[in-house]
Amino acid sequence: MSVVSIANHKGGVGKTTTAVNLAAGLARSGYKVMLIDMDPQSNASFCLGLKKQDRTIYQVLAFQDDVRKVIQELEPNLHLIPSSVHLAGFEKNSEVGKEFILQESLDQVRDNYDFIIIDCPPSLGALTISALTASDYCMVALQPESLALKGMDDFIRILRTVKTRMNNQLDLLGVVITQYDNRKVLHREVLEYAIQNYGEAVFNTHIRGNVALAESQSMGQHIFEYDALCNGAEDYLELTKEVVKRVSAELAV
Ligand SMILES: Nc1ncnc2c1ncn2[C@@H]1O[C@H](COP(=O)(O)OP(=O)(O)OP(=O)(O)O)[C@@H](O)[C@H]1O
Ligand SMILES: [Mg+2]
Repeated sequence: MSVVSIANHKGGVGKTTTAVNLAAGLARSGYKVMLIDMDPQSNASFCLGLKKQDRTIYQVLAFQDDVRKVIQELEPNLHLIPSSVHLAGFEKNSEVGKEFILQESLDQVRDNYDFIIIDCPPSLGALTISALTASDYCMVALQPESLALKGMDDFIRILRTVKTRMNNQLDLLGVVITQYDNRKVLHREVLEYAIQNYGEAVFNTHIRGNVALAESQSMGQHIFEYDALCNGAEDYLELTKEVVKRVSAELAV
């Protein structure tokens, strides 16, 4: 059983698209999966067809409600804990040790799943720290634009700090390049640069730019439901296989 956070404090780099479709890809491959939406924007919940919800991860974090009460079964193998806009308040409250609440609450359900995937918000605040504290692995989504690697060092530093201070289990599972177009010189350059900096941590699978991925989100469907034959579905299935391989070989870097 593995808990994997999809993170990057930069906004709009493909975290949610990756969290949703990796979770769906794992579920399609026969694994029992739960996706947790830790972003107050609630994009992952929306992408899977959920509108405003009453029972969300906020109840667990703010009131220590039983996590089992907020789980929604979307498919037999794919469960979701939705998010709420109130989650933004969690960043500010001053409760001691609040970053451990998520980790502790997952103890109730950990054994029911093969994978728990956490979609992080675009910040390095208490929500992302909580997700990393509860995780075995972190996957970083990286969009190949000129400033992509700027700030990555800060992120890796935070990852190390969380590992040292809060969660010794935490490892970097890999860096996934999203919205990749190999016809663009800049994209090829950023990929090369990422490989120079992060070596084998960069997943071999790159997620190509594919409009079906954006369309599926407005339809409230994951990509395998929306169009199982498009490039996006093909890429996320390949990524799923690579993730399973890395996790089972404990190939984290
Ligand atoms: N491979 C792709 N091809 C085409 N569009 C994509 C792809 N990946 C993501 N997008 C689109 O790019 C936008 C940002 O993606 P996404 O929401 O996954 O990023 P994010 O990192 O979760 O953003 P935020 O930081 O706001 O949470 C969305 O509109 C999404 O539909
Ligand atoms: Mg997002």
